Amino acid sequence: MPETGSPFDLDDDRAYRAWRDAKLAAYPRRVDDLVVEVRDPWHLSAAEREALVDRCRRANMAIYASARGHDEDREVLRVLGGQLGLHRLDHNLNADEDAITPLRVADDGPRSTYIPYTSRAIDWHTDGYYNRLDQQVHGMMLHCVYAARDGGANALLDHEVAYIWLRDESPDYVRALIRPDVMTIPANADAGGEIRPERTGPVFMVGPDGRLHMRYTRRKRNILWKADAQVGAAVEWLAKALAGDSPCIFRARLQPGWGLVCNNVLHTRTAFTDDSDPRRRRLLYRGRYYDRVAGT
Ligand SMILES: [Fe+2]
Repeated sequence: MPETGSPFDLDDDRAYRAWRDAKLAAYPRRVDDLVVEVRDPWHLSAAEREALVDRCRRANMAIYASARGHDEDREVLRVLGGQLGLHRLDHNLNADEDAITPLRVADDGPRSTYIPYTSRAIDWHTDGYYNRLDQQVHGMMLHCVYAARDGGANALLDHEVAYIWLRDESPDYVRALIRPDVMTIPANADAGGEIRPERTGPVFMVGPDGRLHMRYTRRKRNILWKADAQVGAAVEWLAKALAGDSPCIFRARLQPGWGLVCNNVLHTRTAFTDDSDPRRRRLLYRGRYYDRVAGT
């Protein structure tokens, strides 16, 4: 028998307690604790890299602050991610050919029908929950080139903390949310036919590496929860918990030259108002990866 079991094994409370207590003790206290100043994102120093990885180890996320400002060279995302072990980009629906997605309000075209390309608020979710189960998004980066004139802030919550909340409240909630048929996302179709088939899977998955992964959206449209009392109770409890205020939830407004590096934690976006100059509309580059941040 191994000395320590998986903290995510519902039958191993001892392993869970040890992991939970260590996790919460090391969890950053405020958003400033996530921020790492980076002199040159193209060439991280060993100390900068270690500081980013350290935040990701403790909270599955870090914010880098660089002086790149409005530099629109999107390669920065790929180069910075590569230095952190993020290599395998997910070619998601609205990404450009290089798999990097510029998030900016789209007035028309296919992107304009998706919330990320509007100025509306986005509710709690992890990225790519509708992907195939073998192509889940484990790492995610956002790089800010232009901030909105007002709004456009992100709330961030380590998905491992969400797991802790649920398990501490009731292990039955976790039991409901690890069911492989708990969450179904209907097929995505447009006039031209099916873009993505229906997907069914769990909320919480433990990978072959023993790490916890979460597929989640709090939106009520385009999501079918398993019709089951326990599932209903768990989903409702989590939705309420996320609506509350907790010191574990960080709120940040990325500034030009700043970015988020994370192991696909839970996040939101507030609504925003763009600059009146269309060239200075809020612009974020996003990369979704099949990798986690290396060393986390
Ligand atoms: Fe997202």
